[in-house]
Amino acid sequence: MTNYLITGSNRGLGLEFCRQLNSERNKIVAICRSTSSELADLGVQVESGIDLTTYESIYKLRNKLSDFKIDIMIHNAGLLERDSFPNINKESVLRQFNINAISPLILTKVFLKNLSNTGKIILISSRMGSIADNSHSDFYGYRMSKSALCMAGKSLSIDLRARGIAVALLHPGMVNTQNRSIPKALTPELSVRELIKKINLLNLEDTGKFWHVNGEIISW
Ligand SMILES: NC(=O)c1ccc[n+]([C@@H]2O[C@H](COP(=O)([O-])OP(=O)(O)OC[C@H]3O[C@@H](n4cnc5c(N)ncnc54)[C@H](OP(=O)(O)O)[C@@H]3O)[C@@H](O)[C@H]2O)c1
Repeated sequence: MTNYLITGSNRGLGLEFCRQLNSERNKIVAICRSTSSELADLGVQVESGIDLTTYESIYKLRNKLSDFKIDIMIHNAGLLERDSFPNINKESVLRQFNINAISPLILTKVFLKNLSNTGKIILISSRMGSIADNSHSDFYGYRMSKSALCMAGKSLSIDLRARGIAVALLHPGMVNTQNRSIPKALTPELSVRELIKKINLLNLEDTGKFWHVNGEIISW
């Protein structure tokens, strides 16, 4: 039995992770602010009412799950708000930092004692957080927050190696979530299928790296 904690589980990629990982061999705890009929239909354990940017929610969750042993944490919840220079709004940047970069770090800290040795921490980042790959500059808040997530993930990989815990930063590709239908974008089904393959292969040899869903390493 593999135990998963998955954030942002009510829709998009998080819902698709829950759907594909839902089997008799896995136990899933699906975290969300509010559930959805699609998530409820899966029959997995849903913990709703959790805003990951507040300590109140995170401690409520920790108290509820104090005995839950986590094998794989999938930090998937995220927020993208469009901006471009000079139209930068501080509150928007901070909102994205809070959920994209800070909440995965705090959630990991709070649930550290629940993580099994040899566990895995999966941080769903974005290629837009790669400084090396940045060729058209807009989305300041989103890019900055995902870069910060990459830094947090790299540091966690160093700190948790001795416990046998591997960390991966994963870019899911451009995916048609939120009812988008961008030509050439991946379906959530395909993206998550490939991400799960990567998660299954992750080990301490390749901890602390930033992977594209297509299997390539992304430069920081
Ligand atoms: N789709 C893409 O093309 C793409 C590309 C690169 C990276 N990514 C990354 O992949 C992840 C999933 O993307 P997606 O397309 O599935 O996004 P999505 O459909 O917008 O879903 C985002 C999820 O995050 C949750 N969330 C946002 N703020 C939260 C908060 N404060 N507390 C708790 N949950 C919160 C949302 O919950 P609510 O329903 O309550 O808002 C929702 O479940 C994100 O980290 C995103 O940055 C996506």
